[in-house]
Amino acid sequence: GYATIEVRKVGAHLGAQIGGVVIGGDVPPEQVAEIKRALAAHKVIFLRDQHDAGDAEQRAFAGLLGTVTKPHPTVAGDGEAILPIDSDTGKANSWHTDVTFVDRIPSASLLRAVELPPYGGTTVWANTTRAYESLHPALKALVDRLWAVHSNLYDYAAERDEKRIGGIDVKEQAYRDEFGHLEYETEHPVVRIHPVTGERTLLLGHFIRHFVGLSGRDSSDLFQLLQRHVTRLDNTVRWSWRLGDLAVWDNQATQHYAVDDYDDQHRRLHRITLAGEVPVSVDG
Ligand code: SIN
Repeated sequence: GYATIEVRKVGAHLGAQIGGVVIGGDVPPEQVAEIKRALAAHKVIFLRDQHDAGDAEQRAFAGLLGTVTKPHPTVAGDGEAILPIDSDTGKANSWHTDVTFVDRIPSASLLRAVELPPYGGTTVWANTTRAYESLHPALKALVDRLWAVHSNLYDYAAERDEKRIGGIDVKEQAYRDEFGHLEYETEHPVVRIHPVTGERTLLLGHFIRHFVGLSGRDSSDLFQLLQRHVTRLDNTVRWSWRLGDLAVWDNQATQHYAVDDYDDQHRRLHRITLAGEVPVSVDG
């Protein structure tokens, strides 16, 4: 049980709403420990009605949960902790884990609502640990020792955007130029041992270009098969944002998807990223 916070599940397989916490730099250590425990157990946690919190409080709270790091290698300047997720710049409407194309994948992200559209604009998270557990033993054996190449330059293997087939529009091109002006390419195990829980978890998402040793076509088919296990609706939780909301997710056990169903209305959230470790495979 939890002594100093309230934890209410939002979905059966991941997601919990946390009550009794006011985010900022002076959250007591016992609360911080319980929040970390809730994050490991529920994978994404939601704190509502944090109306007095701005960037400074978000950052101070993040610093209690881990080491605040540069949120994105190609976008943010040095020393900037906040990455604006702004609908004017791009929409993350494809399934991914944040920044998997670097060696040390961020351990967690904290996302705070700043401006919301009057309808739509929810975010969906999926449990990648349960996705692994859902695989047939034969498929587990296949992926246990498979590696994948992750790149910040999107590829056919990612189910990104249908409009790519007919070419990409100007806004999308500008977004890609910003996010892709430096190329990162990193190999990671497809099955990762979670550094806190010790569980096996699938490390996939839209930054994968191909699996090591597999052809593009086989990579694409296998990617779709595995992503299907991650993203089936029963394995997800969906959050309807309100102003004052902060979501914190375990970036080592989840993927997420920002639903693009709010037309041309403005949506802005601020993201802070916590430093993580080089993923460890089942072979150590
Ligand atoms: C993200 O991918 O980090 C942003 C999610 C969102 O816009 O809801």
